[in-house]
Amino acid sequence: MSRHFDVVVVGGGPGGYVAAIRCAQLGLATACVDAWRDEAGKASLGGTCLNVGCIPSKALIESSEWYHRARHEMGAHGIKLDGVSLDLKALLQRKDQVVKALTQGVHALFMANKVNFFHGRGKLLDGKRIAVSPLDKGEKAFEITADNVILATGSSPAELEQLPFDGKHIVDSTAALAFDKVPKKLGIVGAGVIALELGSVWRRLGSEVVLLKSRPGLLPAADPHIAGEALRCFREQGLQFVMGARIQGAEIKRNKVVLSYQDDNGEHSLRLDKLIVAVGRRPNSEGLWEEAVGLRRDARGFIEVDAYCRTGVDGVYAIGDVVRGPMLAHKASEEGVMVAELIAGKTVLPVDLDTVPSVIYTDPEIAWVGATENELKQAGRAYKVGSFPFAANGRARALGRTEGHVRMLADAATDRVLGVHIIGPQASELIACAKLAMDFGASSEDVAMTLFAHPTLSEALHEAALSVDQRAIHVVQAGKKA
Ligand code: FAD
Ligand code: NAI
Repeated sequence: MSRHFDVVVVGGGPGGYVAAIRCAQLGLATACVDAWRDEAGKASLGGTCLNVGCIPSKALIESSEWYHRARHEMGAHGIKLDGVSLDLKALLQRKDQVVKALTQGVHALFMANKVNFFHGRGKLLDGKRIAVSPLDKGEKAFEITADNVILATGSSPAELEQLPFDGKHIVDSTAALAFDKVPKKLGIVGAGVIALELGSVWRRLGSEVVLLKSRPGLLPAADPHIAGEALRCFREQGLQFVMGARIQGAEIKRNKVVLSYQDDNGEHSLRLDKLIVAVGRRPNSEGLWEEAVGLRRDARGFIEVDAYCRTGVDGVYAIGDVVRGPMLAHKASEEGVMVAELIAGKTVLPVDLDTVPSVIYTDPEIAWVGATENELKQAGRAYKVGSFPFAANGRARALGRTEGHVRMLADAATDRVLGVHIIGPQASELIACAKLAMDFGASSEDVAMTLFAHPTLSEALHEAALSVDQRAIHVVQAGKKA
């Protein structure tokens, strides 16, 4: 079999499938090669995000929050529930159904947009030929060719040498989405996004959870005020943190993981039912092209690209987790659209990596966009700060979710919004408004002059903008301006 396309996309995650659909919309003959297999060995488009990332984790977060509320929070609303119990199997099945509906949706979108799909492992050969190796024995390898190639092969969980995954006791995030029993004692190496989201899930479902991280301080990329409040909230919820842990290794003894680590107080060991290792992800770039193609990888394995995701080899692009920048689905998709439009000859702007929104789906949620105070200080940029607590927001009170606050950072001279940082209810949704304001170059005064509906959580963003100029209404402001 040999076929030629305008564009071949290798990888069908949120980078690759979005790029392929946009290419097809723009009238380009498009194919996508993706190697993902579901538990039955069948193709399942959507990559990490839909199959074992964003979507299943958020389904578990939702279910575990319902369970937690039913047990601990309904009483405060005057709703009495007796005998609340957990059906973990049903909870996991619901998650699998959510995943199936969305992955099948991508297959349907491919059909509707006439994107040719090949299930197999792609390798880029010289002359923009793509060798497709089938995943099942007995099927034959074949080649396709293209004028343009987009590499969107994503990333995989990083493994620690001293803690190799065994798929049963020492596991990655994928296995941690499908424990068949709630672990009594769960250890997590790492205290980043995955550790906090999945640690919270299993904590709400009943596990004792200990997170061990190598460096002091939580969430170094977040605003320090937000990170500090987050740590306090998570500790109150019962998450235990060991900071500065140097992991030595683990042994499996009587169906338990015995984890050894050192910290400044000496040597320790923990007996755990399960251990999740969530210490970051590494790009899937190994063996992706034959040497003659001439692509370059950096020291960490990311494919080198410019601001437009061009690799330096004519007609070959790379997007998403396999290139520099935050490893986030929306960043991958945005790069996919940009490259598709570039190939189609449209004028495009590079994706602004400085204003990609970050969201951590804990309770309370954490979200930010733009610069942190530390970054502004390091850059020597003068800035003003406005902040507003959810405790003073009517909707948050009605919801019973008063933890957290909004912080807005604006340029001291121009008043342009430089960053917005939120910890609190629905922070994931509220941050979109901040991103929009920043993309339109809004000043804090522009946001302050906008009319927000009442009672909404978004009023906290409005009040934070007012507070930049010391004129928030629902908190007492020192030195209120005329
Ligand atoms: P991927 O989604 O990894 O897709 C790459 C695809 O390429 C896969 O299907 C893979 O099988 C395929 N592939 C690899 N090599 C080949 C090859 N040689 N030939 C053919 N196919 C190949 N991000 C968010 O923005 N929000 C979240 O809430 C979020 N939650 C997450 C939760 C978890 C538990 C995890 C693990 C990740 C989460 N992420 C989240 C990160 C997000 O999943 C990734 O940033 C995103 O999936 C990257 O998209 P991608 O298209 O670059 O790669
Ligand atoms: P991460 O980079 O967020 O966190 C890694 C953690 O591991 C940090 O706490 C770090 O200090 C710790 N660590 C690193 N090496 C260590 C060691 N040797 N010993 C102990 N601790 C060590 O990575 P994580 O949580 O694995 O997530 C990977 C990526 O997936 C994220 O960076 C993010 O891009 C994406 N993701 C995004 C989500 C979202 O947008 N809500 C949710 C989940 C994942």
